[in-house]
Amino acid sequence: MPSFKILVTPGDGIGPEVMEEALKTLGRVQRMFGHEFEYDEETIGGAGIDKYGVALRPETVAKAKASRAVLFGAVGGPKWDDPKAIVRPEDAILGMRKQLGLFANLRPVRVHPLMLSDSTLKPEVLEGTDMVVIRELTGGLYFGQPKKRWESASGRQGVDTLRYSEKEIVRIMHVAFQLARQRRKKVTSVDKANVLRTGQLWREIAVEVGKEYPDVALEHLLVDAAAMQLLRRPASFDVMVTENMFGDILTDEAAMLAGSMGMMPSASLGKRRKDGTGIGLYEPIHGSAPDIAGQGKANPLAMILSAAMMLRLSLGLEAEAAAIEEAVDAAIRDGYRTPDIAGTGAHVVNTTKMGDLVAERLG
Ligand code: IPM
Ligand code: MG
Repeated sequence: MPSFKILVTPGDGIGPEVMEEALKTLGRVQRMFGHEFEYDEETIGGAGIDKYGVALRPETVAKAKASRAVLFGAVGGPKWDDPKAIVRPEDAILGMRKQLGLFANLRPVRVHPLMLSDSTLKPEVLEGTDMVVIRELTGGLYFGQPKKRWESASGRQGVDTLRYSEKEIVRIMHVAFQLARQRRKKVTSVDKANVLRTGQLWREIAVEVGKEYPDVALEHLLVDAAAMQLLRRPASFDVMVTENMFGDILTDEAAMLAGSMGMMPSASLGKRRKDGTGIGLYEPIHGSAPDIAGQGKANPLAMILSAAMMLRLSLGLEAEAAAIEEAVDAAIRDGYRTPDIAGTGAHVVNTTKMGDLVAERLG
């Protein structure tokens, strides 16, 4: 029986609650398909700060590197929110991304046909929306140096640096074009080429890499226009590729197309093996939602769908991944909703019940 090592980091807030449901789903997959998932759990984020004084220990990174994948819950909360603090819960996710070399963040946005009327946007605008945002994850403003604050004679100052190298842009473009080839063959590259030097470089390289994929259509959008078009013609997008900061902002916006952040999984990937698999980190794009933590209100579907992405992209278990996605669809089709996605006439269920419903539908 093949055994897969998985590092589990539930984190803070609703992280542990939604993680439990993802593990429940995976437990069912193990029994159905005869796999062995070997879990190791690590305390990270705010909980890590409380326990160890840091959000991410080197030991945790070493364990991650020795695993096939990391299942990541969420980090952060008011307790650790002092903006001047030297250690922050977010160090956990940023450190994992950087130290594992996870440069490509895939955030799929699919509007479920039965949830068209649950979004704040009009159903006729949303209909047919099925896109993936690829966010560059280890460069740009998040990591560029210098990055600091200081006092000067004229007052306090701060700097963050937006820098991209050709190599960083080339590799993320290949991820975008290759994914588009398996989909509707369209890439929308988002930049700020009218103002930023990095934006010009981004666009230039998008065009160059695009020449290697003549079968894929390439469109460019300035980031402000992209923010608008996401609300105006979301169904027209297939693969959208953009730099780290823009991707952070646009994916929160895109999540709302699907009705709730509670529906959006994500995969963060680095270098791939020949068979297409490789280490990855899988997390829901919602945060730790401390306001609803511990109340059974959290939607576990984004975490469960992240586990499905893990099976597909790091473990090479396509049928198992598809089975989870179908089980989630079935639970929605049967009318069950957590409070965040509850339209009129839905059976509103709590976190645990939603997890049970998905597990039951797996067979
Ligand atoms: C995300 C989050 C993170 C980010 C935070 C928690 C550091 O917002 O994954 O989108 O900014 O990347
Ligand atoms: Mg974000």
